[in-house]
Amino acid sequence: MNFFSEEIEKLKASGLYNSVREIGSAQGPWLVVDGARVLNLCSNNYLGLANDPRLKDAAKKAVDEFGTGPAAVRSIAGTLTLHRELEAKLAAFKGVEAALALQSGFMANLAVIPAVMGEGDEIFSDELNHASIIDGCRLSKAKLTRYPHADAGSLGDLLKASGANKKLVITDGVFSMDGDIAPLPGIIKAAGEHGAMVMVDDAHGEGVLGRGGRGTVNHFGLHGKVDIETGTLSKAFGVVGGYVAGRRDVIDFLVQRARPFLFSSAATAADTAACIAAVEVLSHDTGLVEKLRDNAGYFQERVRRAGFDIGRTMTPITPVMVGEATAARDFSARLFKEGVFAQAIGFPTVPKGSARIRCMLSAAHTRDDLDFGIEKLISAGRATGVLK
Ligand SMILES: Cc1ncc(COP(=O)(O)O)c(C=O)c1O
Repeated sequence: MNFFSEEIEKLKASGLYNSVREIGSAQGPWLVVDGARVLNLCSNNYLGLANDPRLKDAAKKAVDEFGTGPAAVRSIAGTLTLHRELEAKLAAFKGVEAALALQSGFMANLAVIPAVMGEGDEIFSDELNHASIIDGCRLSKAKLTRYPHADAGSLGDLLKASGANKKLVITDGVFSMDGDIAPLPGIIKAAGEHGAMVMVDDAHGEGVLGRGGRGTVNHFGLHGKVDIETGTLSKAFGVVGGYVAGRRDVIDFLVQRARPFLFSSAATAADTAACIAAVEVLSHDTGLVEKLRDNAGYFQERVRRAGFDIGRTMTPITPVMVGEATAARDFSARLFKEGVFAQAIGFPTVPKGSARIRCMLSAAHTRDDLDFGIEKLISAGRATGVLK
């Protein structure tokens, strides 16, 4: 056996082999997955915008006007008027001076961290931060210190002990596997006391937290206290893409230094126009965000009452804790057979022994959809021994 097949066999034996399912329909509360119609408890389409006619129309018009590909990187061949329009609308939505649109949320973190931090600097990163933050830190060559999850006190001690000239604290706004919210007031206080900048990745906060979904900083009323925000346009915004938001000087600097901006082609006109439409919807309508919150409260209360452990979630991300990866895989397979698409998540995405089914809620779900999902979670939970 060679390296590749040995590794694949090991993954299969430990329940960590990831089978990618095939979707044969548009995103929505129900999907056709591997040929079967199933309830969608998997996607990050928090507000149901991924198949919204307003976004689709905007994308179609943009193709007619601007064509398909951007044809080069923005710094060499110029930027579309659409990119600039999206950046202005995002900045206004997030309540900051400026924004820079990038190809994805992952790229946004790779754009910022190595541009801002380098040798001799020190980054303080929550131990549960997203993989794109970890990779951005690695690329930067700065010293990386991981602080205990959401622990502003320990962060303060670590910052105090650091002799680095430039310090940057990075946290997810909402943690993608547990659904808890970063304690931003404490983090900002600790950073301020020790001369550190603060960066928040709000991929799961925007469209979910704050007034009309303006995100984690808005949720805490901390505008102007966070130096850099990154985010994605692929979750609540329902399209694809990423962005950095902050002061004008931060964005101007990134245009000069951020490698994914300088060396990788821009997002397409269709995606960018659809993103603009999504920001416009969110800027004027809080109804979808309210429906999402109602749905999350309804579902989580009933799932908890049924006896499941859903951890420390404070958002629509609902981790149904299982423990062993093989048990989570069996639970997910049973759910799928009963008509529910809810993926098992195991190591390395979450720590060993804390495998779970992550149920993602959306404003697009009806009460009947949620009741169906709860009923099937209970029956599949009993059948697989997860629910005693
Ligand atoms: C916290 C966080 N940051 C960044 C990303 C990456 O976003 P994108 O899918 O737009 O690359 C994700 C998505 O999984 C995420 O959860």
